[in-house]
Amino acid sequence: MRFFHKQRDDGNTRMKFFHNLLNIEKKQTTFDKIQGYDDIKEIVKRALNGSDTYNLIFIGSPASGKTLFLEGIMEIRKDAVYFDATNMTNRILDILEEKRPKIICIDEIEKASKNWQEKLLNFMESGRIKVDQQKKSYDFIINGAKVFSTCNDISRLSKPLQSRFRKIFLPKYSQEQFLNVCEKIMQKLSPSIARYIGAKVYETDGDVRNALQVGKLVERNDGPEDIERIMNTLMRYGADRK
Ligand SMILES: Nc1ncnc2c1ncn2[C@@H]1O[C@H](COP(=O)(O)OP(=O)(O)OP(=O)(O)O)[C@@H](O)[C@H]1O
Ligand SMILES: [Mg+2]
Repeated sequence: MRFFHKQRDDGNTRMKFFHNLLNIEKKQTTFDKIQGYDDIKEIVKRALNGSDTYNLIFIGSPASGKTLFLEGIMEIRKDAVYFDATNMTNRILDILEEKRPKIICIDEIEKASKNWQEKLLNFMESGRIKVDQQKKSYDFIINGAKVFSTCNDISRLSKPLQSRFRKIFLPKYSQEQFLNVCEKIMQKLSPSIARYIGAKVYETDGDVRNALQVGKLVERNDGPEDIERIMNTLMRYGADRK
């Protein structure tokens, strides 16, 4: 009797093992979700692994995958911190002081005020954060931090700040790349429908987010005419004519 029990347990354990294995295989990382750019993914991973400081900035038009890269970095390094430069407050100083993070992600850095850009430059030069304010003063050092950042327009950063970063320009997608991205992000639809939407959107503004918005309205049995009609309606009412 004992023997049978043991056998059944082993069977269950084995089942669980394979179940877990399959789940692990299925779980996609954020980097897996980024279509293409295997070469850049390699650079980012190497920059993260290395012991030296390394500052990278992703530059590109809207929906070129810049924030996705920061999300991927945040997932790889759980100790990383993320700031949205459109909303820089003193809370950031508190977080830096408290956590002393070695990986700092700053999204849309060109939106940070001149004042914040200067603070960041000083930090990237010396590792020191020294800010005197009415309510609270900060003076601390984070050695060897790496900064990963994004921006649409690099010319809005001061030259000294630009020079602290290794720049990665994400070019506009070619049509083929655009269709591949659409296929990847619209997995609920068949590849041919996703690519059809991609081709149509590429003809207009080539914005991945727009393709995604069309894709969300498309149902399984829809064909090209339905997609065309949906897109026309969205375009007809999309412009603000006041
Ligand atoms: N290479 C890609 N692989 C997978 N999805 C992509 C890719 N490029 C763009 N996308 C899609 O486009 C959306 C926008 O990407 P992301 O937020 O990274 O753009 P961004 O470059 O940060 O744009 P913005 O300048 O407006 O902030 C993502 O949610 C994703 O669905
Ligand atoms: Mg972004």
